[in-house]
Amino acid sequence: MMMHEAFTRGVFLSLEGLDGSGKTTLLSHVRRWIEELGYPVRVIREPGGTPLGERIRELLLDPGLAPMDPWSEVCLYVASQVQQAREVVMPCLKQGVWVLADRFRDATVAYQGWGRGLGAERVKDLQDLVLGSLFPHLTLLLDCDVAVAWNRVARRPGFRDRLEQETRHFMEKVRQGYLELARNHPQRFVVIDAAQPLLEVLQNVTAALERARPRLVSGDASEI
Ligand SMILES: Nc1ncnc2c1ncn2[C@@H]1O[C@H](COP(=O)(O)OP(=O)(O)OP(=O)(O)O)[C@@H](O)[C@H]1O
Ligand SMILES: [Mg+2]
Repeated sequence: MMMHEAFTRGVFLSLEGLDGSGKTTLLSHVRRWIEELGYPVRVIREPGGTPLGERIRELLLDPGLAPMDPWSEVCLYVASQVQQAREVVMPCLKQGVWVLADRFRDATVAYQGWGRGLGAERVKDLQDLVLGSLFPHLTLLLDCDVAVAWNRVARRPGFRDRLEQETRHFMEKVRQGYLELARNHPQRFVVIDAAQPLLEVLQNVTAALERARPRLVSGDASEI
């Protein structure tokens, strides 16, 4: 099956942004919005979501395997994405189930393409090869200052690191990569200011979803 040939009825949404930008926090809000429209929804995360994907996630997070070659890293991320696309995303969309992703393919372009410096185009080429034109119909990019995102991560239990200069530089590149993606795909991306208090972020996310709703539910979504 070529993924882009499959007829889809469900809608595919993704949340993207730096670690600590608020993706997981907003997930339940977006989920509720979809459910209130009356659609079934499946929430996914990357990497993970399938037996193979969860094993890949363990490999990627295992400090014993570091440092991993950045291309090995990309291949593992993309392997998880393609597995989840075939096992979960495409079957759900075909059945009219909406899919809500806590990160999908854009994160690999931002983190590995920009952050690790492999090149956004090369990472996208690899993804195109295996994922075809399977993109979310709408991507909410939670954008904020690196320091803001980092301070939120630092409050987590068990957090031990401090924001080294190198890490900050890496995160800056990732942020710029995300913003560049949004500029290149203005139809698909909505950039949300994630530095605001949660209530305001929630309101802006709802407003963005409401603006996109006619397009998403009309069946035009799959043409983007
Ligand atoms: N707008 C906000 N204002 C203040 N705190 C926030 C806001 N959004 C999220 N937080 C808090 O910041 C922390 C990180 O948020 P969250 O876990 O949702 O980020 P994330 O994008 O999922 O990060 P990761 O990529 O590491 O999983 C949480 O403790 C959350 O409660
Ligand atoms: Mg999260």
